Amino acid sequence: MTPATDPPRAYFNSAVTTFPETSDPQLLAFHRRLPGYMPTPLVRAPHLAAALGVREVWVKDESGRLGLPAYKILGASWATYRELEALFGPFGPWATPGDLAAQLRRHLPLTLVTATDGNHGRAVARVARWLGLGAHILVPQDMVPARIHAIEAEGARVEVVPGTYDEAVAAAARLADARHLVISDTAWAGYTRVPGWVIEGYGTIFREIDAQLRASGGRPPDLVAVQMGVGALATAVVRHYRAPGREARVVGVEPTRADCVRRSLAAGQPTGAPGPHPSIMAGLNCGQVSPLAWPFLRDGLSASVVIPDARAEEAMRLLARDGVTSGESGAAGAAGLLELLAGELSAQAREALAVTPGSTVLVLSTEGATDPDAYARILRGES
Ligand SMILES: Cc1ncc(COP(=O)(O)O)c(C=O)c1O
Repeated sequence: MTPATDPPRAYFNSAVTTFPETSDPQLLAFHRRLPGYMPTPLVRAPHLAAALGVREVWVKDESGRLGLPAYKILGASWATYRELEALFGPFGPWATPGDLAAQLRRHLPLTLVTATDGNHGRAVARVARWLGLGAHILVPQDMVPARIHAIEAEGARVEVVPGTYDEAVAAAARLADARHLVISDTAWAGYTRVPGWVIEGYGTIFREIDAQLRASGGRPPDLVAVQMGVGALATAVVRHYRAPGREARVVGVEPTRADCVRRSLAAGQPTGAPGPHPSIMAGLNCGQVSPLAWPFLRDGLSASVVIPDARAEEAMRLLARDGVTSGESGAAGAAGLLELLAGELSAQAREALAVTPGSTVLVLSTEGATDPDAYARILRGES
């Protein structure tokens, strides 16, 4: 990739490749059996489309996914299910998570463990509750109380780790033993099976979008924006939209100070972004790209861009005008497109990404108002 500016806010890669899409045929049937499963809405966003200067923008609204305000439960539930099967053998027939819990009883006590900067940990805690397991969730020291309370409300034990999200990841990894299953969305040396299933679990989002676009006569997207923490969601996006025959351009977005993907692209190898990570985009405050994600991001992202908090706030307000409640991390993908297509990088970005006034864009709004007080403040314009 070549730098767009100095210091580069954006990288463009004209040599992206395609990746074979591998998707477990059981995935959608699995998610359908979880309480409250419904495809999340795919909505048109005319205000955002006007701001970006494109024909249409579709927003996949993940503010209400299986009873939680973020998409993460898709990966957490599938990875936990697959890991339990890998450890204890296949489950017998089941219709609800309660049936799975009954089959797990003879293996108790078991505790699910993970680090989180909010949404993934809450999702793991919910899965543990469904399955009758314990949950021990490790969080960075700067997590806002609203997010901690939301995880505790799932019945989990929350441990505040001195330091950043990355230090919480290391502390979670040390807890692994026969009674403590680590369900992490990021990978490390020797730990890739579970994070691989997390990525696979996100595939339901794209299956739903394909069906929703087909049903509404919508065109497949030319450009897809995805916000990045450790890069697991972006990997799922690349695997779907860079599969042969689809080949949309994918843009990855990070907060300026938690820019591990930007640094890795600049260095040509995984490179950390040291903390502190003070962005309001809490879910994206990660200092290390997942090693599982890295090859997909390196070769699958047509652009990567970093954004300041003010851009995320602008995107939250714009999405609200289009009827979508989108939190700080949730709106970051849209914010990245504003940075690229509506700011001073616009001419270069439009050319590099082949964006025209006729383009169709897909944005993933990955969370709702996960910090409701902050959301209300930002919408009132008081950041
Ligand atoms: C709302 C939200 N969006 C996006 C992401 C980024 O996902 P990933 O860490 O897989 O890159 C996160 C991660 O926590 C998140 O909470």
